[in-house]
Amino acid sequence: FGSDELRGLRVLVSAGPTYEDLDPVRFIGNRSSGKMGFAIAAAAVRAGAEVTLVAGPVHLATPAGVARRIDVRSTVQMQAAIYAEAARADIFVSAAAVGDYRPQEVAPHKIKKQAGEALSLALQENPDIIAGLGRQRQHPFLVGFAAETRDVARYARDKLARKGLDMIAANRVGEGLGFDMADNALSLFWADGGLDLPQGPKCELAWQLVQQIAHRYRLTRAT
Ligand code: PMT
Repeated sequence: FGSDELRGLRVLVSAGPTYEDLDPVRFIGNRSSGKMGFAIAAAAVRAGAEVTLVAGPVHLATPAGVARRIDVRSTVQMQAAIYAEAARADIFVSAAAVGDYRPQEVAPHKIKKQAGEALSLALQENPDIIAGLGRQRQHPFLVGFAAETRDVARYARDKLARKGLDMIAANRVGEGLGFDMADNALSLFWADGGLDLPQGPKCELAWQLVQQIAHRYRLTRAT
């Protein structure tokens, strides 16, 4: 069954990891499977939204009803796709695990092993996609995620303020938690409140999250 909390609204969702190439055969990535973001896209469709999904490298089928899927690999590519779509989005949910750094140089050929020697990689900072939107005068309702291994609430509240977000969904990650699992647990924060969504399947949490987003979106747009 569906509902119509988001009827008439355009929702942009990012999901999955980013891969930063080192050479033609190697990359720096992370453990995100895309399941959380894809579940949010499906839930937003179910709530009546027109959904665009920007996906990093994942092995997941596009949820039924998603209007458009854009596949990307690196953070810079994800930024270009999201900035192109953000102008026409009412709500952006950033569930992607975006790489904070990329190699300063991408070697044109496979980096050869130098036996007995340590290898150092020089990394440069990637753009912060959602913080960039948060700094713009006009931007969609911004929902970030915070993946933390400790002090979840403190870091999440800090990111909410620092990145100029309307809401943040914090999850504990690490051994057996968050990444790639079927279940998750979320703590939601906004400027003057919050709500815990206890452990459950990602599709169930995504549905509850979308209800909260719809509610808070209507409140902020009504004032
Ligand atoms: O994909 P799954 O396997 O289902 O796992 C789900 C998840 C654990 C990846 C997901 O629930 C999650 O927490 N996603 C956000 C991971 C992350 O990058 O968190 P962060 O705390 O590093 O970033 C904070 C926010 O800023 C996020 O909304 C992120 O998308 C965004 N960001 C981060 C860095 C960057 N350069 N640009 C960004 O926009």
